[in-house]
Amino acid sequence: MRSLPFVATVALAACGGHANHPTEPMDKQLTSMMASMEMPMDDGATFGPLEVGADYASYVKMNTTPVASETHGGRLVDTYVNAVGAAAYLDPEAEVPVGTVIVKTSMEVRAGQATGEAGPIFVMEKRAAGFDPDHGDWAYAIHWAAPPERWAAKLGGPIYWRSPSHKVGYCVECHDNYDRNLGDVPGDQKIKALP
Ligand code: HEC
Repeated sequence: MRSLPFVATVALAACGGHANHPTEPMDKQLTSMMASMEMPMDDGATFGPLEVGADYASYVKMNTTPVASETHGGRLVDTYVNAVGAAAYLDPEAEVPVGTVIVKTSMEVRAGQATGEAGPIFVMEKRAAGFDPDHGDWAYAIHWAAPPERWAAKLGGPIYWRSPSHKVGYCVECHDNYDRNLGDVPGDQKIKALP
């Protein structure tokens, strides 16, 4: 299908043209998700207002400056954690409490420059033991209310994909590679203590 070269081009533009750049896995997987969009609607793929994490403005912001996230399409991201989980997010030894919500907002970047367009909002929520025990009992969501035209055309409009939809399977897979399933904020851009 035609969308793969298109998306690959966007990924390259977003990261300044490095062919082997780690932005690729996510955008490739996004593309395969798009390719499966003719499948019947599944639970957790219907667009609507953001639910879990919508109150992120009241959370603790974990980064001091916007982080260039190679794994999330080369976008600039900010990471917010609610009061339940903020202390645990700062302490790599701590167990993450049930009820922790982590929201990562993003800004679109093209050719190394922020475009001024809002990117997707990424959400993780720590659920009760048994929700998804093989994957740390995390629920995942991606919400994009106003994707720029180049994305909207490919995504079919705004998206709100969330567990248990298979469309967030690529989030689960990649996050399984990290301790506590958390990719974490780079140390030099992470706050040192709770405000
Ligand atoms: C290719 C690997 C990869 C994929 C795919 C991926 N992530 Fe991440 N994620 C990371 C890494 C690495 C970090 C930490 C650095 C950063 O923010 O970029 C992270 C950070 C996050 C955070 C902040 C909490 C944390 O882990 O520190 C959230 C929330 C998040 N991702 C949600 C998602 C969602 C939702 C998806 C799917 C729509 C997704 N991610 C897909 C690797 C990935």
